Amino acid sequence: MTEAILLVGGKGTRLRPLTVNTPKPMVPAAGVPFLTHQLARARAAGIDHIVLATSYLAEVFEPYFGDGSALGLRLEYVTEREPLGTGGAIRNAASRLAAGPDDPVVVFNGDILTGLDIRALIAAHGTSGADISLHLTKVADPRAYGLVPTDPTGRVTAFLEKPQTPEEIVTDQINAGAYVFRRSVIDTIPAGRPVSVERETFPGLLSSGAHLQGMVDSTYWLDLGTPAAFVRGSADLVLGRVPSPAVPGRCGDRLVLPTAQVASDAKLSGGTVIGHGARVGAGARITGSTVLSGAVIAPGTVITDSMIGARARIGARTTLRDTVVGDDARVGADNELRDGARVWCGAALPAGALRFSPDR
Ligand code: GDD
Ligand code: MG
Repeated sequence: MTEAILLVGGKGTRLRPLTVNTPKPMVPAAGVPFLTHQLARARAAGIDHIVLATSYLAEVFEPYFGDGSALGLRLEYVTEREPLGTGGAIRNAASRLAAGPDDPVVVFNGDILTGLDIRALIAAHGTSGADISLHLTKVADPRAYGLVPTDPTGRVTAFLEKPQTPEEIVTDQINAGAYVFRRSVIDTIPAGRPVSVERETFPGLLSSGAHLQGMVDSTYWLDLGTPAAFVRGSADLVLGRVPSPAVPGRCGDRLVLPTAQVASDAKLSGGTVIGHGARVGAGARITGSTVLSGAVIAPGTVITDSMIGARARIGARTTLRDTVVGDDARVGADNELRDGARVWCGAALPAGALRFSPDR
């Protein structure tokens, strides 16, 4: 059995207002806090002990997941009083590991949805004898990520976090946010101060001649750091495009949780999720979207690729596309919101207040 550290302490700034009341890993995807999918997938790959490295809104994790036994895991929680960065968090959480100096320790970013074969990454780590093995993926625009060029044998030659200039964009291969460390390598990260594993630890190890090995694959991969990506990831879980043992129901066009009420002529498609106690009115058309618990969607609304927060209310005939509505917000009837609009938690938009077309 293998041990892992899950990094869940980030502020989730780009996901606001979804992360105003809820840390990013606890925002629901396909009906359960996103972290549930990562934990279930790790368990299915033979990982049995996971240390959660928490910081922002740290207090909400343990009451929900407890000791992890419901998922067949042993979970522990380590909270940073001041955020220690990704490397500092790994070093800090490692105090709870039982792994010996040469044992593998898996580390996951807490916002990645992927079909990665975790067992294969651990096995490849054992075969190559690397100090650290990294899951890599190829993306069309790598600028928001860590660039990781490799030589023909897959050995990492550089690590360039969030490149600023065109000259730095030397590859479309990026750090996919899952690593296997040799335990003794974690113990070389300085303790008690913020450390970025991407900006400090990886480049430092490379310049001292350490062996970092990349494993590139083309499986499903998505960083859920933005509202559009989060909504997409949730829909893809519901549609079964990426497998998770934690989806609460059968995969298909829609997931309606128990106690939700949906009008018989409402159309739900494209991996839409309707949360507990939510209500969807007559003739509503909801595609590729997430409606959180207790939200109320009035008749005749059209909602596409959007997230509706807990207890929010959407008025009749309102159209939402690529929009996030925060918890407890109210959007009146006959509004038209789109293109990344973010309605803050608790805000109220009167009826007919915002349109992109001249008619009402
Ligand atoms: N405990 C703790 N403490 N966790 C943290 C901290 C911290 O101070 N800072 C960030 N994290 C967690 C976040 O919660 C997230 O799960 C993970 O570390 C990565 O942080 P992000 O803020 O999501 O980073 P990113 O998406 O900009 O970049 C990272 O992920 C990319 C892949 O999605 C980097 O690892 C890139 O190199 C990588 O390509
Ligand atoms: Mg991220």
